[in-house]
Formats: sequence, structure tokens, C-alpha cells
Amino acid sequence: MCGIVGYIGTRNCVPVILEGLRRLEYRGYDSAGIALVRDKEFFIQKKAGKVSNLAAALGEAEGTVFATLGMGHTRWATHGEPSDINAHPHWDQKKRIALVHNGIVENYQAIKTKLLRDGHTFLGATDTEVLAHLVGVMYDECRDLPTAVRLALSEVDGTYGLVVIAKDDPGRIVAARKGSPLLIGVGDGENFIASDASAIVEHTRKVVYLDDGEVADITTSGVRTMTIDDVTVEKPIHQVTLELSQIERGGYDHFMLKEIHEQPETILNAMRGRLLVEEGDVKLGGLQNIIGRLLSARRLILTACGTSWHAALVGEYMFEQIARIPTEVEYASEFRYRDPIVNIDDVVFLISQSGETADTLSALRDAKTKGATVLGIVNVVGSSIARESDGGVYAHAGPEIGVASTKAFTSQLTVLALITILLARVRGMSRERGQVLARELATLPDKVQTILKETEKIRKIAEEFKDAKNFLYLGRGANFPVALEGALKLKEISYIHAEGYPAAEMKHGPIALIDENMPVVFIVPKDGIYDKVVSNIQEVRARRGRIIAVANEDDTDIDELAEFVIRVPRTYGFFGPILNIIPLQLLAYYIAVARGTNVDQPRNLAKSVTVE
Ligand code: AGP
Ligand code: GLU
Repeated sequence: MCGIVGYIGTRNCVPVILEGLRRLEYRGYDSAGIALVRDKEFFIQKKAGKVSNLAAALGEAEGTVFATLGMGHTRWATHGEPSDINAHPHWDQKKRIALVHNGIVENYQAIKTKLLRDGHTFLGATDTEVLAHLVGVMYDECRDLPTAVRLALSEVDGTYGLVVIAKDDPGRIVAARKGSPLLIGVGDGENFIASDASAIVEHTRKVVYLDDGEVADITTSGVRTMTIDDVTVEKPIHQVTLELSQIERGGYDHFMLKEIHEQPETILNAMRGRLLVEEGDVKLGGLQNIIGRLLSARRLILTACGTSWHAALVGEYMFEQIARIPTEVEYASEFRYRDPIVNIDDVVFLISQSGETADTLSALRDAKTKGATVLGIVNVVGSSIARESDGGVYAHAGPEIGVASTKAFTSQLTVLALITILLARVRGMSRERGQVLARELATLPDKVQTILKETEKIRKIAEEFKDAKNFLYLGRGANFPVALEGALKLKEISYIHAEGYPAAEMKHGPIALIDENMPVVFIVPKDGIYDKVVSNIQEVRARRGRIIAVANEDDTDIDELAEFVIRVPRTYGFFGPILNIIPLQLLAYYIAVARGTNVDQPRNLAKSVTVE
């Protein structure tokens, strides 16, 4: 689930691994560890808490230990509390091999029981330690590390990104993947293994993505890739385009703030070369081959998790209102276990920033098995969902490091807007209407820039409400998902309890919560239901709730109704979410900063959830 980085070559790998772990910190984790091989002996250090704790524990060793083979791990605990003992790497019984693992060994209990019977003793409570022992048993038998890993994995149910080294075989790293990403960085006389390109991009841009069911035997001079059944697989080398500056904070206090401020550019990047304003049309290369199937689709299904699910909800409004195609939205985690009715003429869109979310990936596979066309709206290029889809559209937001998703969300919405225009045009929308929509979409980056000028005002509002215990977010239509997303942002990074509701739904329950201590954020653009939302505002006022309104620049009535007003430029209703979420991202950010929480790595959260 979390971070892995490993090295084999000729230089000292200690700084390579520590820097790699630091670059993986954004993924959210609770402990870290490192294993090095020197003179056929292990040097292992593991610590609960941050990579800085690990570096401190290494102390002098960081500068004095020299090893040319090693690996590091950041753990996001699933089995066993975050502690020094449970942190990875783990040894086998004889301490001959060391192993790091992302994911979950589902049948670890059965394997553990058998190993206990055979006299094994376990130091901690993780599923991973059991796997290390199992690999150790196989290694004892066959004395060949790749074979030992393959044999052990043939007994394992669950998910893994796995890296194993053996102290008496310091010439290789063995890695394996099922459900948790791993890539091999190909260098000159040296090779790397990582769960995420950002950990190794300063050393090499040439990568091989491992696929599910594959094992890699990595030495200084090369890589052999095979299946678990030992069938050799030829793998292509890809070029990673990631720039180092994209994964650094660049003068901002937090990645989240940097990413919020990048949105004028990232929204533009999502449209670049795709939005044809004069033609009133859209060109999307990743959909070209399946446009026929999209056209004949009787129904579109959008499935995703978290913030990406909120984007899907907005997508439903766009697809139904503009393109007039019946659309359904479902949480990927529910979709996959519900045995949903999916027909071969359905098109299923998977929306995911990381492209690695386990629930979303499983939904993709399920829909594919049922014969549907599966399309990805993904940010991370080369990720599993991108590779397993029949087609799709990249969000092009660049690396998103803050755990709380911001720029990826607005890029997803922009892509959904593009797909909407494309579908509407092929289904008969006039060029003139297409031009009107395309022209408006093209103005959004400038409008976001205007909203970012409200930053100081939003910071003051955040100061006012930083001690609130609860928050309510209310919006209607396409702004209902914005309310959900605003509430999620606040929960994730400030730990204040927050809920989003359709504004009119408030009177059916949440209104009981309103008193003079309850901040209520209304998203209230001047649209066809403005007056209805104003009535809801009145209902909150009557109960002395404290109102923060996100309203249009030219709305002069709102000042009478709300204690605080944040202004956003006008746009068409279904594009509104792309603008209206920006102040809510900033509000959550500044409240979290005022409360002193760890904005970029909030507690308990991981950037990419590769476990169920
Ligand atoms: C967003 O702020 C969250 N960290 C989380 O809800 C996230 O959106 C969700 O886990 C889905 O991730 P994905 O887009 O990478 O699939
Ligand atoms: N399931 C393993 C553990 O709890 C791996 C967790 C991870 O993916 O970081 O140790």
C-alpha cells in the first residue's frame, strides 16, 4: 500500500534509498525501514513514525555505512500497530532473507498456523512477516531466490508489491507484483526498484512497469522478468516524463497549497490540444478507437472512490444534462461486490487520480469480464487502470503529492466536460452550441486565477472558524458533489467533522444540528435554483447558524444573508464545480494550517489506497 525503493549497483545506496523514501513520504505512512547487505550480512534499521526518525536512528551510520545493495519501505499498517517491530523489512526465521511488502496477505493466518507448528517464531503481528518466513522456507529448499519467491507466492492469496534480498546472494533483488504497483528503474550498471517513479526519477527515467503476476530478477547488469510459473516475459522500457521540480514544493509551505495554486495551469493542460474552440468540438486521442462503442452505449456508468467519486457525480450531471445519455454513478467498492447488471453495450468510466486504487481497479476488471467497454480518466500515466482500460483520457494534472486531492479533481472535471462536449456533438449538438460551451470552458483557467486572489480573505475566515467542532456544506445540482468534496477536504486535513448535503435535504434531518456554533457553507451561484437555495439559507439564519457563502461576483443580495461571502466568477451551471471547489480547498487548507495539523500527510490516510 505504501512506499518501496531498492537499489543494486556499484555506488553507496544509503543516500539513494533515504532520499527515495523521502520522495515517497507523500503517500502517507506510519513507519519506515531500511535493509542493506554488506559483506554478506544484513544491516537493518526500522522505526515507527517518519523517515526522519529512521534517519535519526541510523545516525552516524547514514554517513559511514557503505552498501551497494539495499531497500527501504514506508509502511501503512494494515495488520498490527505501527511500531518498530512491525515496520518492514522483515526477516525469515533464519534471517537469511529480508522482505518489504505493500498490500495484504489474505491467507496469512493459515500460513502462520502451519509455520508455528513447524517451530517458527514471529516477532511482530504483520501478515508480511509470515510471507518473509514462507519465502525463507522455500529459499532453504531451493537455494535460488527467484524460485523461492515464485514458490512462496503460489501459496499466497492477496495483494503484493514485494521486494526480497538475500544476504548470501548479494548480486540480486527479486521483486513481484499483484495488485500493488512496482516499477524497475533501468540505469547504467545499476538498477532500481520502486513503487512509484518519483522515488527514482532523479537517477533514471527509463522504467519497466511490472504487471500483475510477474516476478523480476534484477541484477546490476540486467533484469529478467517472468511469470509466477516461470515463463519469461519480454517487457518494454518506458520513458518517464516526470520533472524533479514537479515533485518539489517550490517555495510553497505545503504541496497542497502549491497544487491549489497550480490549477489555472493544470486545468489548461487538461484542455490543451483537445478543446477546439472554433469548431465547437473536442478531440480526444484516447477515445478515437472506441468512439463507435461510446456512441452506441445505452448507458454510461461512472465508478470511482473518494474525491474521484465526487468528480463522477458531477460527470453524471454533465453527461445527462448536456449529452442526454443515461448515466449512473457508483462507489467502486460497492460496484465490485454487488454483482451489478452490466451489459456489453454499457460503457464504464473508471475515474482515478493514482490509477492504482484497488477498489477501482477491481471494478474495472469486473466490468471488463462482463463485456463492457472500460475507459479510464486517470492522472498517473502508465498506472494500472490506464494500462488495463480499453481507452481513456489522461487528466494531465502532473504529480499530485498532497494526500488531499485538489488539482486532480478539477482536471478530472475538465476532462469530463470535454467528454461531454464530444459526446453531445456526435449525438447532434450544433456547432454553434458547441462553440458557446467550448469558449466558456476556455475561460476557466483565468477565472480560477481570479478566485485565487480571494486567498487572504479565505485565510481570515479560516482563522474565525478554526475551533469549530462541526461543519455543514450545502449545495444543489452539480454543486451538491462540490458540497461533499468541500466537506471531505475539511475532514481529511483538519479532522473537523464535516458533512455535505443537497441544500434542500437539510430540512429532512441535518437542520437539527444547527445552532449558533454551526458553520454552514453554502454554494450558491446565481442559477435557476438560486432562490430555492436562498430559502435554505434563511432557514439556517432563523436558527442562528453561521453562514459562509460561495457566491457569484455580481450577486449583491447575498451580503444581506451571509456572514462571510467568497466571490467566484459566473459560468454555466455544469462547469460551476470547477470554480466553486477552489475556495473550499483553500478554506480547508487554512483551517488545517491554523490547527497545526500535517496538511500534506494527514493522519491515517494514504495517497493511493491499493488495499480493499
Ligand atoms: C482525496 O482527497 C482522498 N485522499 C481520497 O478520497 C481519494 O480521492 C480516493 O482514495 C481515490 O483515489 P484515486 O483518485 O487515486 O483513485
Ligand atoms: N500488510 C502489511 C503490513 O501491515 C503491508 C502494509 C503496507 O502496504 O504498507 O505490514
